[in-house]
Amino acid sequence: MIKDFMTNDHRECDNLYAPLEEAISKEDWDRALELYTPFKDAMLHHFAMEEEVLFPKMEEYVGGGEGPIYVMKMEHSQIKSIINSLGEAIEAKDKRKALGYGETFMIMTQQHNMKEEQILYTMAEQLPFDKEEVLKEMKEV
Ligand SMILES: [Fe+2]
Ligand SMILES: [Fe+2]
Repeated sequence: MIKDFMTNDHRECDNLYAPLEEAISKEDWDRALELYTPFKDAMLHHFAMEEEVLFPKMEEYVGGGEGPIYVMKMEHSQIKSIINSLGEAIEAKDKRKALGYGETFMIMTQQHNMKEEQILYTMAEQLPFDKEEVLKEMKEV
């Protein structure tokens, strides 16, 4: 199921963020830098599966325009920019800024993921395309 697979991927991204936040709190900057890259890569990979495969497929049925998919894409770009700011704060070893961006990241991502899990992925499951094929394409991203 697309919904289960993507919901699980949200959890995996959360699990990569938690130890990063802990390293920042302890001002263990070497560890924070080490954890930042896999965390960022996992987030960008998740967004790419949605933007390159799932969302365009959904748009074939529900249309583009300024609907929920448009909102999700806008939120992706906001979250990406916060992830970049977080990386800069870690490089600058600025604990206050890094924790601030981390907090913003968490709030925005939790709200974003909740909307996808409750609305978008449920909508995807109801559309008449081949779910297995789309899942396979997402796994190839
Ligand atoms: Fe998303
Ligand atoms: Fe997502």
